[in-house]
Amino acid sequence: MLIEKHSSIRLRDLSQQKTISPEQTELAQGMVRLNHLYRSALKMAVAQLEILDEEFATMYDHSPIHHIEYRIKTLESITEKLQRRGLEVTIDNIFAHIQDVAGVRVICNYLDDIYYMRRLLTRTESFGIQREADYIKEPKETGYRSLHLILDVPIVISEGTLHLPVEVQLRTIAMDMWASLEHELRYKSDRNFSDSDAARLRLCSEAIGEIDREMQRIYLGEKPEYEV
Ligand code: GTP
Ligand code: MG
Repeated sequence: MLIEKHSSIRLRDLSQQKTISPEQTELAQGMVRLNHLYRSALKMAVAQLEILDEEFATMYDHSPIHHIEYRIKTLESITEKLQRRGLEVTIDNIFAHIQDVAGVRVICNYLDDIYYMRRLLTRTESFGIQREADYIKEPKETGYRSLHLILDVPIVISEGTLHLPVEVQLRTIAMDMWASLEHELRYKSDRNFSDSDAARLRLCSEAIGEIDREMQRIYLGEKPEYEV
């Protein structure tokens, strides 16, 4: 199953202001180009994942992929990220500093599926890896778990071949549940997010880590680590 989260950078966001300076017009034109290029890279990565997913569904009993979500980062979020890093909002800075304009989330069933998918995606003939962060082996301070890859995705356009980064987050269903609720609790709800909330979420993350390991052992028919 493929889910597109929101369609694209909304150019309306740029043109809604009544007075538009020449710089803004230039930025808007650059955004159209950038949007097209990153959408193309995203399509390439998603198409490859879809091919693998369909192959699993038709040829094997077990599919490592539960579902796939993908999105182009909103202009608001790109702007916020550049400003947070003290950088001016320019097309060049987006290309140079934002590696997650195109993002794919692959939600896997089991822990081993994540590393299997990583191997399939990065075999020499497919995409290169620009950067990798394994927050499963070493979860983030918050408790966040996922395997992050910045893939180098080639796209063929009229001028030739261009390589663009696509961020791929691989995680289990359980890790995805934790990440969605943690994000909701930390940033979206009206309630105050306390240190105690953060500590409890870290405990939930540890429990989820153990559940994922045990689900994997059950799937493989391995003995439990305790007597039942
Ligand atoms: P930014 O954090 O996006 O500035 O870039 P970065 O290079 O530090 O990337 P990082 O590896 O921290 O991962 C960024 C993405 O991972 C975020 O956009 C989230 O989707 C996800 N993520 C990272 N940390 C957390 C976390 O603590 N909680 C949740 N829910 N998601 C996280
Ligand atoms: Mg970060």
